[in-house]
Amino acid sequence: MARETWLTGITTSGTPHIGNYVGAILPAVKASHDTTRDGFYFLADYHALIKNQDSARLIQSRKEIAASWLALGLNVDHVTFYRQSDVPEIMELTWMLTCLASKGLMNRAHAYKALVQANLEQGGDQADPDRGVTMGLFGYPILMAADILMFKATHVPVGRDQVQHLEMTRDVAQRFNHIYGEHLVLPEAVVDEDTAVLSGLDGRKMSKSYDNTIPLFESAKKLRKSVMRIVTNSQEPGEPKETEGNTVFELYSAFATPEQTAALAQAYADGIGWGDAKQQLFELLDGQLAEPRERYEHLMAHPEEVDAILATGASRARALSQPFLQELRHAVGISV
Ligand code: TRP
Repeated sequence: MARETWLTGITTSGTPHIGNYVGAILPAVKASHDTTRDGFYFLADYHALIKNQDSARLIQSRKEIAASWLALGLNVDHVTFYRQSDVPEIMELTWMLTCLASKGLMNRAHAYKALVQANLEQGGDQADPDRGVTMGLFGYPILMAADILMFKATHVPVGRDQVQHLEMTRDVAQRFNHIYGEHLVLPEAVVDEDTAVLSGLDGRKMSKSYDNTIPLFESAKKLRKSVMRIVTNSQEPGEPKETEGNTVFELYSAFATPEQTAALAQAYADGIGWGDAKQQLFELLDGQLAEPRERYEHLMAHPEEVDAILATGASRARALSQPFLQELRHAVGISV
């Protein structure tokens, strides 16, 4: 079997929360230790620019996300960890692909479609369907295709909502190969059906857009405060409680061993009070996060260590992207 190349992009917006940790970061960090395959992990800061015009926030988020992944044990000796913007060849490939991508297909990209839909719903007859739509947002899937095709990725782990972008990537790559010869590798989306989607403080899906997250590396004191803010019902201590659909229980079981989960289920049946249940959740989280939190704090205080790792990643990445882009420039007739 040919060697596989896995590629993971991380949009640098927001502060990582425990939902990201369980659903995306932890499985990806684990995968970085699998030396039977090659791995590319990058900070998608060009993507972050699409929705974020606050430059200070962008810098801060990139710092936090890089430090988080490193603190959690991303194996940077094996995989290539870099910033998208340190690989300018991606931009040039984006343009080559833009010239091949059909606009009709892009019209169907869900981030764009959702915005158009919202404009139509709000604006009635007078609505401008493209209100607030930049060319960056519209072309987002093409930039993503360039990220993937540049490093000849064979496997791209994504959430359900991104599967469509992988189809677009394959489509544009096929078109390129048809016109210019076989240069691009067609990637495949890998959707992990089992990864948990966690609930947030208010019981809705944990998401920065709902402002209901528990940040991954906040101090123990703040973490405890966040956990105590989780919304519960008004049942008193002593009353037996449902585990099903209960946020405290759900978060607990995402981090606990099966034995610990069974013990908490028993405590629910026995009528544990919400305060005690939350205290148990806090202790479990804090126990698992204390060590990486220390590494995270160290890295945040020593950004030069993070920058050095990213610089190594960038030079490894460019050792591949520069000659490959040269090959593609030659293929399309930009250079001889
Ligand atoms: N679009 C992805 C997200 O929102 C991030 C991303 C950018 C990405 N480029 C990628 C993911 C390439 C996989 C491959 O999370």
